[in-house]
Amino acid sequence: MRLAVISDIHSNLEAFQAVMDDISKLSIDDTVSLGDNIGYGAQPEEIIENLKHYSITSVLGNHELALLDSDYLKTFGPFARKALKINKKKLSDKALRYIATLQPFLVRYGCRFVHGTPPDTIARYIFNESKQRLINIMTRLKQKITFVGHTHQLVIYGLDHGVLKKKKLLNCRLSLAKSMKYIINTGSVGQPRDSYNEATYIIWDSDRYTIEPRFVPYDYHNAAKKIKKAGIPEQYAEILRNQKGELNAQITK
Ligand SMILES: [Fe+2]
Repeated sequence: MRLAVISDIHSNLEAFQAVMDDISKLSIDDTVSLGDNIGYGAQPEEIIENLKHYSITSVLGNHELALLDSDYLKTFGPFARKALKINKKKLSDKALRYIATLQPFLVRYGCRFVHGTPPDTIARYIFNESKQRLINIMTRLKQKITFVGHTHQLVIYGLDHGVLKKKKLLNCRLSLAKSMKYIINTGSVGQPRDSYNEATYIIWDSDRYTIEPRFVPYDYHNAAKKIKKAGIPEQYAEILRNQKGELNAQITK
């Protein structure tokens, strides 16, 4: 079984379409989204329509949570809040009702899917967890493999007989060990913070027991133009155009 795990599309239709084109060429059986389908970008309604069109199951991201929970929205910085308010105006009632159905986590194909930190936390960054806390969390998880988003970074955490190892994921297939537990941080389709103008996602092959990070080029200039035209804070357009990821590190929510 080959599963595509996508995350943090953030209303970037160009990036999402490029990823779906890539997926269509790779014998993928199913696709799961880790949330943050909306926010930052210019086309939230089109993203929600396409998730339904492609039958992609999504969990709840913190940007969806902020749409549903005005107290949580207050924790956003002013730029992210403005971007989300513009996104909300672009969403139909039908799309908002769909967003309200999203769940904090999903277990499918023996794997766990959650936006922030397992087992079910939407808005905690995995990189903010202490080593010991991560060991405790992973030890308690029933699933051997958990996929998380939220950080917009590609990282793998492996627990090997109580020892935690962390590694940045590069552009090559990686064989996993059946004796270990893993948390795989899948990067971002629409607002990458550690790549170079490419949409990133992961393919999980349960037969080969491998993960394969994908880096997909797309028309980021057009996506950035749309952000500017929508009146969304320009920094989210600049991130897409940024060649070296320098701006990306400054923006964490
Ligand atoms: Fe995000």
